Amino acid sequence: MSKPSRSTNISRSTGRVSRIDRERLLGQQGCVAWLTGLSGSGKSTLAHHLESLLLDQGHLVYVFDGDNLRHGLCGDLGFSAEDRTENIRRAGEVAALLADTGAIVLCSFISPYRADRERVRKTVGDGRFLEVHVDASVAVCEQRDPKGLYKKARQGLIPEFTGIDAPYEAPIDPEVRVDTGTLGIAEAAQQIHHRLSVRGFLSPPTTPETAP
Ligand code: ADX
Repeated sequence: MSKPSRSTNISRSTGRVSRIDRERLLGQQGCVAWLTGLSGSGKSTLAHHLESLLLDQGHLVYVFDGDNLRHGLCGDLGFSAEDRTENIRRAGEVAALLADTGAIVLCSFISPYRADRERVRKTVGDGRFLEVHVDASVAVCEQRDPKGLYKKARQGLIPEFTGIDAPYEAPIDPEVRVDTGTLGIAEAAQQIHHRLSVRGFLSPPTTPETAP
């Protein structure tokens, strides 16, 4: 549960420039592709691959990564269930702000709890949110072990490691599911790209009423 808000006597500040103005300028529509999956499943690699692809096509795109956020804004949080929930809450708020700039935001967070991801969907707005399950089994991720973390976790050096002694709740009905155990990165990136395109995010807004 999040703490009750202690910010009182506040109001929202708005200017004359709207999100749609920014989206017209950019020729695209702000959205969040939320990549969730185990450590080592390929979320960040996939996000960066897709980032290059979209940038080459002239899009403003940004990779927003869990490891990076934990160096700063979320540096005070650990990996208990409660801290992960707060991590994802903050990440969701930042992702929503970034999408409001008109950018295509590619988020890469383990985000192991379904309820936390659903909250992000609400924060961003269902119409601008794509849940992407970067699906690879613990066995596959442990075999890859790009950061050597599974080895450490098995030795008991990292408590509450996702997939070992902390849970991962897989998405039930994600907008996209890519199996990185069998698909190559380019192919997986193409599937997310296709979904972004079909949903209209890679095209300018037509009328103010038709935001996806
Ligand atoms: S989340 O669970 O709160 O969404 P997040 O995506 O921000 O996690 O950070 C995950 C990264 O933290 C992993 O890629 C890994 O490098 C590192 N990490 C350190 N400790 C743990 C742990 N106990 N469980 C999972 N990842 C961990």
